[in-house]
Amino acid sequence: MSGEAKQETNHVGGWDSMPPSSRAPAFVTTPVGANDPDRKGAEAALLNLKQAQAEHPFWRNRFFKACTAGQLTRADFQFFFGQYYLYNRNFTRYLAALMANSDNDYHRARLSENLWEEGGGLETDKRHAEIFRKFLREALEIDIEKTDYLDATRFFVREFLDFCLRSHPAAGSAFLSLGTEGIVSRMYTIMVEGMLKASIPEEFLSFFRIHIGCDDEHAQTLEDMMVSYMHTPDWYNTCLSSMNYALSLRHRFFESLYDAIQGRKLQGVMSRIQARRSLAPQYPDPSLIRFASGQHGAPLYENETERQNVKATVERMPFKSEIIDTRIVRIAPGKLNERHKHAHEMILHIAEGAGRVQVNESTVDVKAGDTVFVPRWSLHQTQNTGDGELVMLAFTDYGLTRRAYQNEPPARPAPRKEEGAVAQAVADAEE
Ligand SMILES: [Fe+2]
Ligand SMILES: [Fe+2]
Repeated sequence: MSGEAKQETNHVGGWDSMPPSSRAPAFVTTPVGANDPDRKGAEAALLNLKQAQAEHPFWRNRFFKACTAGQLTRADFQFFFGQYYLYNRNFTRYLAALMANSDNDYHRARLSENLWEEGGGLETDKRHAEIFRKFLREALEIDIEKTDYLDATRFFVREFLDFCLRSHPAAGSAFLSLGTEGIVSRMYTIMVEGMLKASIPEEFLSFFRIHIGCDDEHAQTLEDMMVSYMHTPDWYNTCLSSMNYALSLRHRFFESLYDAIQGRKLQGVMSRIQARRSLAPQYPDPSLIRFASGQHGAPLYENETERQNVKATVERMPFKSEIIDTRIVRIAPGKLNERHKHAHEMILHIAEGAGRVQVNESTVDVKAGDTVFVPRWSLHQTQNTGDGELVMLAFTDYGLTRRAYQNEPPARPAPRKEEGAVAQAVADAEE
């Protein structure tokens, strides 16, 4: 059963809806029915809740996808964990808030054990917030005093604390067990994968390794506390909606951080555009502003595949441009380049020879002096129909798209239109 379907059966609204128990002095009581824990049994209820946890849309957030695909850089993690630190250093406050709300001294005793371990026991330099700071300092070289927290970060932390402070202990324990401690191991495994792919050395990742290994006990304490309320009316829905709320808060938080990571890649360019300052010195070196005819650029790519009748090379003109990227494409007589597509738009100017350019399903004949526009993501291919080499200048906005476009992880092999003639779409084949 899918997560959405289950939520519907349990009369809970959208997955990010506010649970009824939050900030309410007691449960919103509904007639005892299908969710009666006595009928289902606590174990079956827990199984359902954990399935909903595993299927929550949170696991599909774009930050995780980028971690798995290895698309994030060390600078991206610097930003992400600099923000995450505000949540991390407040973690014991969430536990303390739940503890203060608990009417049961046994649960308070067990929570104090969690707090004791979070605090590093007698060794205060082993407290988890301190280990995390060490990670920020050593692995990412972040100065935590200088972090400017986003509103999204402040909101996330405030809502976490507020929920724990103001909710019934059944809701609070579900929020912190199923919605928080119970996801730590899987969540940190994904983050570790992303960091290793960003070349952050394993030796700095002990904070994550500790939590991948040990927080199950903490989750168990909170889960026991949650289950102890199973005879309370509407217990199941309260647990489900509290868990969903914790996960959807985190989902929104990670999505916001991901948007910010994306935006930061473009900020530099935008500020240089706004600054109205020349990016060239007063006397630019002629070699930096001229590329003479007949000159060769830096080799970028070459392909000769007999079966596909492909024989082409690509060079890049060595201009220090921000956005516009100029490449020289050479195709041998009678040959083609691959049929492909990419995020950047392109103007093709024919410098020498004659050919035929296909853009999606249209084909145009071209000769030296002609210019062709290739829109973003259109499938295109060029054939040399002349006797000599076909030389084209390809002007693209690659400097923009390489900052703005995040490649989706490859899902399935690209479709082939006709065997041999169509080579798909390596988005950056001409890089
Ligand atoms: Fe911890
Ligand atoms: Fe292209």
